[in-house]
This record gives sequence, C-alpha cells and structure tokens, in this order.
Amino acid sequence: MSLKDQIQVDKVPQHVAVIMDGNGRWAKKKGMMRVFGHENGAKAVKEAIEGGSEIGVKFITLYAFSTENWNRPKSEVDKLMQLLVSTLKKELKKLQENNIKLNAIGNIDALPKKARKELLNVIDETKNNSQLTVTLALSYGSREELIKTVKLISDKVKNNIISIENIDESVINNHLYTQNLPDVDLLIRTSGEQRISNFLLWQIAYAELYFTNVLWPDFTKEHMFEAVMNFQNRERRFGKTSEQINK
Ligand code: IPE
Ligand code: IPE
Ligand code: MG
Repeated sequence: MSLKDQIQVDKVPQHVAVIMDGNGRWAKKKGMMRVFGHENGAKAVKEAIEGGSEIGVKFITLYAFSTENWNRPKSEVDKLMQLLVSTLKKELKKLQENNIKLNAIGNIDALPKKARKELLNVIDETKNNSQLTVTLALSYGSREELIKTVKLISDKVKNNIISIENIDESVINNHLYTQNLPDVDLLIRTSGEQRISNFLLWQIAYAELYFTNVLWPDFTKEHMFEAVMNFQNRERRFGKTSEQINK
C-alpha cells in the first residue's frame, strides 16, 4: 500500500504550516551558489501544495521570507524577490486550474513594488477559489505581527470600539495577519533545524511539530504524506488525559 493510501481521510490536519529551510545548504552540497537552491526550492513548493491538496488539507501556510531575512546580502534578497515575481506569474494558471486561493501574511508593504503588485494581482485573481488556501508568509515575523495586533486593539480601546474586559482570544485572532485562518495543526520544518525562527508564535500554541532532515529543494509529496502520517499517529490531548480523549 502506498503512503498516501495509508492516510486516514477523517484525520487529515486542516492547517499545515511549513518552515521551508535548507535551500542554501542544498546548493552548497552541489557546489553551487545559494540562489540555485532557492530556484529549486520553488519546485518543492509545488510538491508540498499538490501533496497537501491530494489528501484534503484545506490550509497550507509557507514561510517564504522572514523579517530577519532582510538582513541577508542584498544580492540574495533581490534574487528571492525576483523569484517570487516569476513564480507567481508562472503559477497563476495552475492555481486557477486547481481551485487554489492565494493569501499572504506579513508586512507586504515592505516588499519591492513589483513583487507586491504581482502578489496582490494573484491574490485578487484567485479570491473565489475554494479547494485550498495557500498562504505565503512574506516579510513575516511573529513578533512584528503581535506588535501590530497590540497597536490595532489599543487603538480600538482608545476609541471605545472595544472594551478592555472584552479582549479575549478571538479578539486577538481577529487582529492578526492570520485572521481568516484556523489554528495550525501541523508545523513542518525541513533541514534538520529544530527552532521556530519567529514563525506563527501565537498560532502554533497547540500544533504538532514535525522536524525532518530533508533539505527543502528535495521535499516531495511523499515527504508531505510522511509528515501527515506521523501527525495521525499522535494523540492530541489539549491538556486532557488520554482516558478522556479515548472515551
Ligand atoms: C530557506 O533556505 C529559504 C529562506 C530562508 C528564504 P535557506 O536560504 O535558509 O537555506 P540554509 O538554511 O542557509 O541552508
Ligand atoms: C526561516 O529560515 C525563515 C524561512 C524559512 C523563510 P531561516 O534560515 O531564515 O532561519 P534561521 O536563521 O536558521 O533561524
Ligand atoms: Mg535557513
């Protein structure tokens, strides 16, 4: 039986987030420049999306560029932004064919004009698609997001739109970049690093974490199925006892 056939359809994670890491090391191992790794990383993005879609994942959120990544050499940042534009242009048709909605989180205003324009165009063109929502985290940092959220809510308190007593989890959820997304069920990080790197700190409160040594450009559908299989073998207790869960 193939891996995919072993996946229980009724236990598929609704929201999978991925820290796509290891492009640079992948290229270095091949004696190539880091950008070669990023170019090949784009193929792995397609694999992850197709794999997720095939098994019924409804939300996939991909960490593509962090607020900290702005500190990389300008040539690498420029190349990543160019790749974003060319990939968006190239993949729009495929997104439409597969009924996939594109979404973005992060400080989108910080992106170069060309990238922002192309991104907003694809988001608009795909806004009525409903099979799967793919969210790109671009110029995204969880702390930046939380600061922005605190400011937005404070402003509403100041203007008597929200009272302090009414601030609860849902108020916070509704002011995050991820306001339209459910909590993350499964967080995957490739490349062997076991850290969060400022990604979705609030949203992964109860996510299952899955780390693999696979470098991002080598990631395939099968790796997505493997991660989901692993997820399905865990018991999510949410603070309760195993007996309560299995009652
Ligand atoms: C992930 O791969 C892509 C981005 C962070 C944009 P890296 O570029 O971080 O690759 P490594 O970690 O240096 O191998
Ligand atoms: C995290 O990877 C950001 C993205 C995958 C976009 P990094 O390679 O930037 O993270 P660190 O520096 O190893 O923590
Ligand atoms: Mg890295």
